[in-house]
Amino acid sequence: MGPVDPAATPPPDVVNCHELEALARERLTPQAFAYVAGGSGDEHTLAWNVEAWSRIRLAPRFLVDVSSIDTTLRLLGHDLASPVVLAPTASHRLFHPDGELETVRGAAAAEALYVQSTLATVAVGEVGAAATGPWWFQVYIQRDRGFTAELVARAEDAGASALVLTVDLPVLGARDTDRRNSLGLPVGVEYANLRGLELVPDDLPPARRVYNPHLDPTVTWRDVDWLSSVARVPVVLKGVLRADDARRCLDHDVAAVVVSNHGARNLDTVPATVEALPGVVAAVDGRLPVLVDGGIRRGTDVAKALILGATAVLIGRPYVWGLAVHGAAGVKLVVDMLRTELEMAMGLLGAPTLADLGPDLLWDASGEPLR
Ligand code: LAC
Repeated sequence: MGPVDPAATPPPDVVNCHELEALARERLTPQAFAYVAGGSGDEHTLAWNVEAWSRIRLAPRFLVDVSSIDTTLRLLGHDLASPVVLAPTASHRLFHPDGELETVRGAAAAEALYVQSTLATVAVGEVGAAATGPWWFQVYIQRDRGFTAELVARAEDAGASALVLTVDLPVLGARDTDRRNSLGLPVGVEYANLRGLELVPDDLPPARRVYNPHLDPTVTWRDVDWLSSVARVPVVLKGVLRADDARRCLDHDVAAVVVSNHGARNLDTVPATVEALPGVVAAVDGRLPVLVDGGIRRGTDVAKALILGATAVLIGRPYVWGLAVHGAAGVKLVVDMLRTELEMAMGLLGAPTLADLGPDLLWDASGEPLR
């Protein structure tokens, strides 16, 4: 399947992110759909991630001129069209034959920053060559630090303008669906960036496996410093929930923080990311950009994230659904829908620019708008 001009593809008949999930379920194999949809444990946090955004009440200001609404921002040296960033998600050839090549085409058409996963099914050099917009590279530090440094160099040579170190997955969470499905990559599909990596065999039976061959459980703050020492681009930390961890980022060479619980796929019953966001924002006290992912499905969720102090949001599942259903055009459609809904929310809040999205637009428990 050759590249399709996503901008030329007529938008399909969905009007919000939720509707794409149902179409993706029809389009994907049950195992692939379950891999994307699944959370860990009893999936409490999976539900909380989405529902917690809806519990935040907005306090709109009317009689404000909103004839011109501007969603642009500057993030780590890039001028972005909107604060919607594509989160690192793995194994895109499970969802589309061209895998991450199709995703990066969609990101460019959507004018969205794309964070490519270490566990991509197309090599970072190929995806970087196909990128026409900015992109970052997500890193899982491997036990083989030499291999990791070489992979990072490949990503930087391919055009990655930041590294996003995922810190919340030293071991995999209890993903019952994936274990029930004995999920693996189909024949002919591989983690293309990890070709040649010596994997530490795990001879425990699946029911007793805690560690994952692609994840190094020994990683500590020392390794954050190590990665910064080998990197030629800024390092972003993804997976921060605690305010004390956010403060520690200020003592290390960290360029931005992502408040994340990995799409509720690791430790069940951690808070929804929106519940952790204010503490992290207060802890970094404006000295670092704070991004947040988890449960973003509506433009109002994006607005709330920025009102609570985030600089941008990352989305995962919604753009994967879009990729599965309509390829690059589906990725673009998801970003376009969220951007349009964000502009509507900004217009209705009386906030014509992202800087106008301040805490005074929240309705507090006492039934009064926050001052
Ligand atoms: C996941 C890992 C691979 O959540 O990031 O599936």
